[in-house]
Amino acid sequence: MPAVSLNPSGPALVAEARRIFTARFGRAPTQLVRAPGRVNLIGEHLDYNYGPVLPLAIEPQILFATAPNGLECVRLWSAVFGEGCEISLTEPLMRGEPGWSNYIRGVLAGWQRSGRTLPGFDAVIVSDLPAGGGLSSSAALEVGMATLLEALTGAPLIPEEKALLCQRAEHDFAGLPCGFMDQFACVFGRADHLLLLDCRSRETTLIPWTADDLVFLVIDTQVKHDLATSAYAERRRTCEAAAHRLGVTSLRDWPEARLSEAESLLDAVAFRRVRHVVTEIARTFAAASAIRTGAWSELGRLMFASHDSLRDDYEVSCAELDEVVRLTQELGEAGGVLGCRMTGGGFGGSAIALVRREQLGWVWERLRSAYMCRFPRGVKFIVTRAADGASVLFSSQ
Ligand code: GLA
Repeated sequence: MPAVSLNPSGPALVAEARRIFTARFGRAPTQLVRAPGRVNLIGEHLDYNYGPVLPLAIEPQILFATAPNGLECVRLWSAVFGEGCEISLTEPLMRGEPGWSNYIRGVLAGWQRSGRTLPGFDAVIVSDLPAGGGLSSSAALEVGMATLLEALTGAPLIPEEKALLCQRAEHDFAGLPCGFMDQFACVFGRADHLLLLDCRSRETTLIPWTADDLVFLVIDTQVKHDLATSAYAERRRTCEAAAHRLGVTSLRDWPEARLSEAESLLDAVAFRRVRHVVTEIARTFAAASAIRTGAWSELGRLMFASHDSLRDDYEVSCAELDEVVRLTQELGEAGGVLGCRMTGGGFGGSAIALVRREQLGWVWERLRSAYMCRFPRGVKFIVTRAADGASVLFSSQ
């Protein structure tokens, strides 16, 4: 059997967080919070173009065990990276080492900026969410930290404000000009629901997932190409410049019926980027309808079409992701796969496939062996349901 995480290790992870906290800090934690990763079913590179996106929070998660320390500092230990750090609360919060602490520093800074008191605390971080797997471990770190601060201070943020504070942490402290899909998914996700998020109005609609015979299979290629951050920023700039050239606030406002007109106004590369965005917006709304009406084959078809567009027009895929999608396409519906596409920013990371539960074993066996013929590093599988957004698991206050 390949590396498959069928039931992410919820209770074991909680026990581990408590145990490590007590061992490191010599007392029991007073709060435990969790924050999930996410996959995006469809609607890629649309959030910063004000389009619709359709993510779900997933079962793999980051857990924080914490307690106040009565000091003017935050002491962190990451069991994931096997390292810790101390952040002073008497000096201005700035970027620092280690790299992962910046997501946390950014949230602490946002919390301060909002005029709230920042107490000193100790925290241990454990996780069964792969870091760098395109499953938004960074958003989970941010939203988990904001949830921890809410639990410690008893002062909840408005959920939308919380997601936006976390997005800003990523901009200012991690240098990625991301949209807010990941943070919204981590805050607003709901068990057995997809989240239709309109990134223009910020309206969130939960759509029940009723297909019990279908599972979400996340296929982690375990690669991350160096290009990821710079190419992401470059795609965003290209879209904003194209919108400007077309005389609209964002590409959300350019109708599909006017694509040929856009072609005459833009250079070839910019036009392909615009074509991805405009057609992906239509696919995402169509996918939301397909889920509501139970048109699962249609949903799968839209996922494959989304991948083609990301590969050819938006050019954010890579050989590993293309191979996963090609193999699933070969299997097709008869072989148990309805649809598959890269998910998240791209240039590595994960793909998401919609697979018939009864054919799951066969699908991952086939995928694993065929993929390894070209890429010996192999893939990792996660089978997940849609999970709840970040929450407090335990609070002694
Ligand atoms: C990354 C970003 C998101 C979004 C996706 C692409 O995950 O953090 O804001 O833009 O890429 O859809």
